[in-house]
Amino acid sequence: MKISIPKERRPHERRVAATPETVKKFVAMGIDVAVEAGAGEASRITDHAYEEAGARIVSDLSSLLCDADLVLKVQRPLMAGEEGPNELSLMKRGALLVAMLAPYADPEALKQYASADITAMALEFVPRITRAQSMDVLSSQSNLAGYRAVLEAVNVYDRVMPMMMTAAGTVAPARVMVLGAGVAGLQAIATARRLGAVVCATDVRPASKEQVESLGGKFVMVESEETANAETAGGYAKEMSEDYKRRQAKLVADTLKKQDIAICTALIPGRKAPILINDEMVHSMRPGSVIVDLAAEQGGNCSLTKPGEVVEINGVTIVGYFNIPSRISADASALYAKNILNYVTPLIDIENKQLKINWDDEIVSASTLTRDGQVVHSAFQTK
Ligand code: NAI
Repeated sequence: MKISIPKERRPHERRVAATPETVKKFVAMGIDVAVEAGAGEASRITDHAYEEAGARIVSDLSSLLCDADLVLKVQRPLMAGEEGPNELSLMKRGALLVAMLAPYADPEALKQYASADITAMALEFVPRITRAQSMDVLSSQSNLAGYRAVLEAVNVYDRVMPMMMTAAGTVAPARVMVLGAGVAGLQAIATARRLGAVVCATDVRPASKEQVESLGGKFVMVESEETANAETAGGYAKEMSEDYKRRQAKLVADTLKKQDIAICTALIPGRKAPILINDEMVHSMRPGSVIVDLAAEQGGNCSLTKPGEVVEINGVTIVGYFNIPSRISADASALYAKNILNYVTPLIDIENKQLKINWDDEIVSASTLTRDGQVVHSAFQTK
C-alpha cells in the first residue's frame, strides 16, 4: 500500500497533510510513504526530516501520484482549467483521496472525482461525535484561526490591549467584540482576554453563553423563541429569520460602536456567511478600530470586507485574509496531520497492508463524497 503526500499548490496554502511524526506512524504500519519534494517547506519541515521518518522524497508529481492508493492533501486537488498541474488527472483510478475538499465551494468538483473514479472523503464532514474528536479538522484549524485573528488585529491596532497604568498616564484596555462564539470565537475570546482586553461576544446559540462567560467574556445576544432552535443536531447554527436579523443588527450596532476591535467568526455550514456588521456600523466605529473577518472566504460577516485583502475605511482597518490557519502553518500542519492520521488509520487493514473501509461506519458514511464512480453524499446527489 502506498500513501502519497503532494505539496499544496492552491494560493495562500502553506500547510501540508503529513508531518515526520505522522509519516513515522504510517511507516510503522508497513506502508510505503512518498512525499513530494518541498511539500513541508512552508510548514518548516525539511525533506530530510521526512526521509528520517521513513518517507521517500519524490520530485516528480506524476510519479508521486500515479500509483498511490491513498492521497493525503490539505485542499482539494487542482483540476482542468485551473492554474498548475491537473492533480486529479494524475491520480490512479480507484484511489482514495482524503482532504478538506470544501465541497460546498465547488460542488462541480464532485462529479469530476466520480468520473475519475476517485473515492473522495471530505474531512469537514466528519460528524462531531466523541469518537471523531481527534479527527476534527474544523476544530483544530478554527482554534488556531481564532488565536491568530486576535494577533492579526493587534498587529494593525495603533493602541495597546491591556490597561497600563504608567507615570505618564493610564491607558484604557481595548474593547473586543467577538461575533460567533464557536471554536474560533472562543479561542479569540481567550486570546484577547490573555492580552488584557475587555471582551464581549455574541452568538445565536444560547449554549455558547456559558462558554463565553467561563472565559471571562460578557455574552450579549438577542433571545427569542427562535434561538431555542438555532442549533442543528450537529451543533451548528441555522440561518435566522429576517425579523431576528433585524433585532440582532440593532444589538450589534449598539454594542459595536463602543468597541475597538471586532473579530468575526460566524458561519453557517453550506451557506454564505451572515452579514452581521453593515456599512453603517463600520462608520460608527472610532478611527483606529479594527475588524478581523475570519468569515472572509465565505463572503465575510462584514459588508465592507474585501476577501483576501486588508482595507482601511474611515480609519477602520478591515482584515479579510484568506486561510488564517495557513499563516501559522507549522502548528496548523502538525494538528491537521494528526487529525488525518486518526481519520485514515481505521480505514487501513494493517495486517494485510491494504485499505479496508467499513462503509457502514457513521464517520465514513458522513464524509464520503464519491465512491464507485458516483456522487454518494446525500447533500450533493441531486446537484
Ligand atoms: P461554525 O464555524 O460553523 O460557526 C461559528 C459560530 O458562528 C458558531 O458558534 C455559530 O453558532 C455562530 N453563528 C452562526 N450564525 C451566526 C449569526 N447569525 N450570529 C451570530 N453567530 C452566528 O461553528 P464551529 O465553531 O465549528 O462549532 C459549532 C458547534 O460545534 C459548537 O456548538 C461547538 O461547541 C460544537 N463543537 C462540537 C465538537 C464536538 O462535540 N466534538 C467539537 C467542536 C465544536
